[in-house]
Amino acid sequence: MHEIQPELLAQFRPPAYPGSFFLSFEGIEGSGKSTQILNLKNFLEKKMFRVIILREPGGTSFGEKLRSAILNSAAPLHPLAETFLFLASRAQLLDEVTLKELAIPNTVVIYDRYLDSTLAYQGVGRNLGAKTILEAHKIFPLNLVPHLTFYLKISLETSLKRQEKRERDKDYFEAQKNNFHQKLIEGYNQAAELFPQRIATVDGERKEAEVAQDVFAMVNQLLIK
Ligand code: TYD
Repeated sequence: MHEIQPELLAQFRPPAYPGSFFLSFEGIEGSGKSTQILNLKNFLEKKMFRVIILREPGGTSFGEKLRSAILNSAAPLHPLAETFLFLASRAQLLDEVTLKELAIPNTVVIYDRYLDSTLAYQGVGRNLGAKTILEAHKIFPLNLVPHLTFYLKISLETSLKRQEKRERDKDYFEAQKNNFHQKLIEGYNQAAELFPQRIATVDGERKEAEVAQDVFAMVNQLLIK
């Protein structure tokens, strides 16, 4: 944490397209990202925004190939191999889709996972450190960050309870041991400390409607700025 210089953090900025917004949702498995993204989509569409939801990794035909290369990998991947696959998918999605969509006024692009997933999963989960991850993102378009990121924070116990209810096969990351997931929580907390203006930590332990109200209120603040 301490080794990160303000000059490095200053490299990161939201895209400048007047009237359009870039948002992301973050959190460990079971944090409710997908549900809240759909709630926010409905909310914004009522306000007459065009809403585009994108997921990482994936979202482009090249990115979907990388997604299955990572998530279906039988062999453990080197942390750097993992990181650069995610970054390749991210750069492609930014260039091929996100920036083109944001250039159309009145658009909101919502990412289901972005930079903070890499900070949490590869930076802390895989021990590469936040500095390595941020250094790898310094070049355009990877240095673009959302206007606002919602970190839906839940405990490891809640995550495990919610995953039990889902009954599906675990993918590459879901199959990791609990101490990996505990590290992810620490990773997200670190990311929130590094980017206090951008990342809003939302208590994801509460009922869906309560979480949604918090998200809507913060989005309203952003829209009237
Ligand atoms: P996904 O099925 O989208 O997971 P979830 O439903 O939890 O969002 O799979 C994405 C997985 O990839 C997830 O376990 C998090 C991980 N991931 C990283 O490790 N680093 C990253 O930079 C990103 C974007 C995702």
